[in-house]
Amino acid sequence: MAVEKKKIIIVGCGPGAVDCITPAAEAAAGKADVLIVSQRLKYLFPKCPAERIDSGTDVAGILDTIASRRDDGRQVVLLATGDPGIFSLAKPVIRRFGRENCEVIPGISSVQVAFARLGLDWQDARIISAHSSEPEMTAADLRPAGKIAVLGGRETALAWIAGLLRDLGSGRRVFLCEDLTLPGERIREVAPTDLAGLPVSSRAIVLIIQGELLS
Ligand SMILES: C[S@@+](CC[C@H](N)C(=O)[O-])C[C@H]1O[C@@H](n2cnc3c(N)ncnc32)[C@H](O)[C@@H]1O
Repeated sequence: MAVEKKKIIIVGCGPGAVDCITPAAEAAAGKADVLIVSQRLKYLFPKCPAERIDSGTDVAGILDTIASRRDDGRQVVLLATGDPGIFSLAKPVIRRFGRENCEVIPGISSVQVAFARLGLDWQDARIISAHSSEPEMTAADLRPAGKIAVLGGRETALAWIAGLLRDLGSGRRVFLCEDLTLPGERIREVAPTDLAGLPVSSRAIVLIIQGELLS
């Protein structure tokens, strides 16, 4: 008899604090036979008896692993930090298996939290990732944006942002938002010229905001 293949459930787990995990996320994780987890999320849902597989850095490899577990009729649940719609494995998973074979449970994004801390709306923000490598965008691409969120807790990311700020010219304010929702959360305004070389948490977002939007 053919095995029934279940939809892959992709679950947004919020920016870190347990109280930012939604009840819907918790319920979805509870259905898992197989949990695909990053290093950061591997301690979540400790009572869930599912097999845990580290998502690692080999995207093609983890997609093959998901396919084989799904072919066995097992319920695969992929945990994503924040919201799956922002720089997560959701995109390659949906591309490989198809929208009709995936269900996405939204989560609270670290980007949402960063803007909330400044009391700013963000429907017009440009969101870019320097999480694992420097973005290919230039100041010319980003100049029209009044609000820019750069994801990436790496000193080289800060050096890239410092160069971007030089090219963008004056008038922007810069906020370094680290470890959002976690006990060590820190949000500080930084002079653009001080950014390069600052030690930074691996969980960090830099918000670059046109000064007049904060007045
Ligand atoms: C691969 S991206 C995933 C983003 C995630 N999907 C989201 O919506 O928050 C990882 C980046 O998210 C940001 N991030 C995640 N959690 C964070 C936190 N608690 N505080 C600050 N930034 C965080 C960092 O910029 C990190 O480099």
